[in-house]
Amino acid sequence: MSKVVGIDLGTTFSAIAELDDLGNPEVLSDPESGNRITRSAVYFGKDKVIVGEKARDASITSPKKVVFKVKREMENEVIYSLSSGEFKEDDGKIKGYTPSQISSLILSKLKDYTSSVKKAVITVPALFAERARSATLEAAKLSKLDIELINEPTAAVLHYSNLPGISLNGRVLIFDLGGGTFDITIASVKGKKVDVITSVGDKELGGEDFDKEILDLLNKKYKKLKGKSIDVNDRSLFDVAEKIKKLLSTKEKVSEIIEGPKGPAKIDISRKEFESSIDTYLEKIKMLMEEALERAELKASNINQTLLVGGSTRIPIVTEIIKKIMKKAPIKGVNVDEAVACGAAIYAGIQNKDKLNSAQKKAVSKVELNDVCNFYMGTLIIVRDPEKDRYVEVNDVVIPRDTKLPCSITKNYQVLVDDQKKIDCSVTQSEGEERDVEFINIIANEPLELRKGAKQGDPFKVTYSYDLNGSMHCIFEEVKSKKKQELNLKPGTSKDFKELRESLDFDIE
Ligand SMILES: Nc1ncnc2c1ncn2[C@@H]1O[C@H](COP(=O)(O)OP(=O)(O)OP(=O)(O)O)[C@@H](O)[C@H]1O
Ligand SMILES: [Mg+2]
Repeated sequence: MSKVVGIDLGTTFSAIAELDDLGNPEVLSDPESGNRITRSAVYFGKDKVIVGEKARDASITSPKKVVFKVKREMENEVIYSLSSGEFKEDDGKIKGYTPSQISSLILSKLKDYTSSVKKAVITVPALFAERARSATLEAAKLSKLDIELINEPTAAVLHYSNLPGISLNGRVLIFDLGGGTFDITIASVKGKKVDVITSVGDKELGGEDFDKEILDLLNKKYKKLKGKSIDVNDRSLFDVAEKIKKLLSTKEKVSEIIEGPKGPAKIDISRKEFESSIDTYLEKIKMLMEEALERAELKASNINQTLLVGGSTRIPIVTEIIKKIMKKAPIKGVNVDEAVACGAAIYAGIQNKDKLNSAQKKAVSKVELNDVCNFYMGTLIIVRDPEKDRYVEVNDVVIPRDTKLPCSITKNYQVLVDDQKKIDCSVTQSEGEERDVEFINIIANEPLELRKGAKQGDPFKVTYSYDLNGSMHCIFEEVKSKKKQELNLKPGTSKDFKELRESLDFDIE
């Protein structure tokens, strides 16, 4: 029987989980190393690829051949070049691998921790844009997985709400600080029924950024002691920085011997120094927590519990900040590295009930999930700007952010001038409520020929229907002639990703 699994495809670590025979999520270990989480690092050898901790080790001697943090590139049209060891803009000439191809290698590795996996739920940050979601779906296709996506904090709350001994009731705040991204989601939970209210976040805020700050501190201190800088691009120093950061979660001070151009130097870093080096990130975290509460129109006192997700929530100052803002300590005792993968496995079970045994079916029977649209979805229209005294193109929102899914919204517009020949039907996505076309992403654009003799002011309507899985059906209609342009935006069919690159034919270790 083919299995259904949940996969947390993380910036720094990934994990895969399935439902055990009783319907409880269970993280699967790498059969070779026994590790329950797998480093999201990929080493390209001559005719084989290595994924995981060993790939990271290989980066010390062959740094250009190892790709880290590919998740941060998922929304970009870039290629990883092995000769330069960097992601570069895809101009059609560079030889190398796309972010989807690289992610597919991580997925293929995880998939092999068990057998007969066909269906999977893969998690993505709540604020992953359409292109990044499409690229994730493309990666799944390349690794021959039939998948659905779910937002990471949503998966985590599903896991928490299914834990024996934890009873979630009322509003909860899910605080997810991982290696690369930061997400906050506020949801309303009643037993196993989860209604997401809002999500905010920062795609570029996580443990990797903190490692860089430690590296900077090491560099400054080495320079002061020895008069020369260390090589901040040396991968082994990144590992030292991460190790120091982790130790500082339990110790007040860490001493480490740092090798540099002027020989070894013993360097001390205190927790206080680390905390002040990441101060701007901490401020951003506080700001986003306030923003999440504001969006949900709630006060901290209205939130019953804070749930922690992500390895970076082990940093003591992070929990102190949470306690200060929420006036209550977060729930403890859950494995913050595994919550997302476990929640994804539960969701995979709900979506594929036909593949479950009766105990598993029973376990997920009461689970219910309602999510919201995490972006403003809009269209481009032309309006008269009285100040500039000319026509300008602006973005007009059709589906506001945080609208409950599924939804269907119609907006009415008009033909602009007599004898107008066509209308550009465009679908836009933005994090903010933007009118300025500079700040939006156009995710689809097709023309619609209008009927002959169309008149200024003729009605024109636009309907967007968005379902729970992130598929959007858009209808642009000239009302009098009933002429229509219909755009089906399933994640994964976004214009830029129409051409699926080839699967990489490597042996994966
Ligand atoms: N004890 C600790 N103290 C501080 N940081 C830690 C600790 N343990 C793990 N981390 C950090 O947590 C991060 C990994 O967390 P996690 O696995 O949740 O992230 P991810 O899923 O890879 O990233 P993302 O969710 O952002 O894509 C790394 O940066 C790691 O250094
Ligand atoms: Mg994560």
